[in-house]
Amino acid sequence: MSVRIGVLASGQGSNLQAILDACADGRIPGKVEIVISDRKKAYALERAERAGVKPVFISPRKFRDRIEYDGKLIEALAEARVDLVCLAGFMRILSEAFVNRFYGRCLNIHPALLPSFPGLHAQRQAFDYGVKVAGCTVHFVDSGVDTGPIIAQKAVPVLEGDTPDTLADRILEKEHVAYPEAIRLFAEGRLVLEGRRVAILPEP
Ligand code: GRF
Repeated sequence: MSVRIGVLASGQGSNLQAILDACADGRIPGKVEIVISDRKKAYALERAERAGVKPVFISPRKFRDRIEYDGKLIEALAEARVDLVCLAGFMRILSEAFVNRFYGRCLNIHPALLPSFPGLHAQRQAFDYGVKVAGCTVHFVDSGVDTGPIIAQKAVPVLEGDTPDTLADRILEKEHVAYPEAIRLFAEGRLVLEGRRVAILPEP
């Protein structure tokens, strides 16, 4: 099966790039069909264009509230007939309607080992707390902030001499591996949601 992917991104889009690259070289059996951003200048939109993927800017200013905005997101994703939505640095909290519509078909990547350090500036939160092992998490999206069922995690040791920035850079490298791997599992139909737990079926 070739999975049709929609990516939502607000920023530089390095995770988007990792997904595009993995689709191009066959690590992900699928294709990014649409990239949507809530920021006009997001570099993610440029990356999409370069890869020949439709870039779509949807300005939050044009909508009365989150429900209306997310309605427009749903419309664009439905039009692109996506099977899977990947949040990649999308800086908006999604409405209940959006989450319900895509439950089990919407993934996010977070730069911490959840459930520790949800929310913003997770790498700095972990660094300031003094953890010795940081990392990243790919999870299904539910209605909480970074609370959905966990698909994959990768650990990153905190080194002497690290700063929040050097740590964040090493976490990001792992994100670029973890996200395509998780998407591949989804595309292969190997992720089974069992309440909070995600079972991973063996390779066929
Ligand atoms: C990543 O650290 C991701 O974990 C978080 O937002 C950042 C996005 O980076 N959700 P990029 O735009 O993919 O480079």
